[in-house]
Amino acid sequence: MAFKFDLHIHTTESYDGHSSLDDYIISAKSKNFFLLGISEHDKFNGELINQLKNIKKNFFFYKGINILLGTELNFNGIHVLVYPSDFDSSSKVMLLKKKFASDALSFVELCSAENIITILAHPFRLKQFLKFDRKFIIEIASKTAFCETVNGRSFFSNVLSSFYIINKKTCLANSDSHHVYELGNAYTILSENVKSYDQFFDCLRQNNHKVVYSPNLYSLLYSRYLKLKKKVQQNKSGN
Ligand SMILES: [Fe+2]
Repeated sequence: MAFKFDLHIHTTESYDGHSSLDDYIISAKSKNFFLLGISEHDKFNGELINQLKNIKKNFFFYKGINILLGTELNFNGIHVLVYPSDFDSSSKVMLLKKKFASDALSFVELCSAENIITILAHPFRLKQFLKFDRKFIIEIASKTAFCETVNGRSFFSNVLSSFYIINKKTCLANSDSHHVYELGNAYTILSENVKSYDQFFDCLRQNNHKVVYSPNLYSLLYSRYLKLKKKVQQNKSGN
């Protein structure tokens, strides 16, 4: 059996997200996903934190699907997905982010010492490729637990990742969805069923999973349309 998952999803709680958590859950169930990782920009999803006050451990069953609560932190252009093992550690993650606002390397080293899972998101996306030294990105990739070598929104970055990192690091594929139509554009398949945070990441470390890149043309066009619409709105409000 295939256990599909995606650890890079933005809901409307992110400034640039267009779909609600409920919409993602409905879509994920219809596409036979086994687990979704919710990773808002520079914060943890407030709806989940509020709904699950009594649940302490990360990796939980919610509205019919497994969920991991994470965040995507931006260190001056280096993006790191972070998944702590319990909810209490989410505030620790945000404090560490404050402390190392521009030092992604120190941040991922500390997370690793604290057993907090980090994933380097879309290395070599055009902006990163032009801004950072390749050796620097590879060094960060060697210190994060995993590397998102396939990203649903980044063809160019995926190709470069395959040259630089793919044989050196445990790789993941994520959609980086900002609306439900992007869900399924890239995902990872786990070879076995798991029921806890530790089991899930142990299984990934064994490297028996498969990465899938399967972009849907309609979703790419819709993303373009949303970007254009936002630009037009910004121009209007600027006038
Ligand atoms: Fe993202």
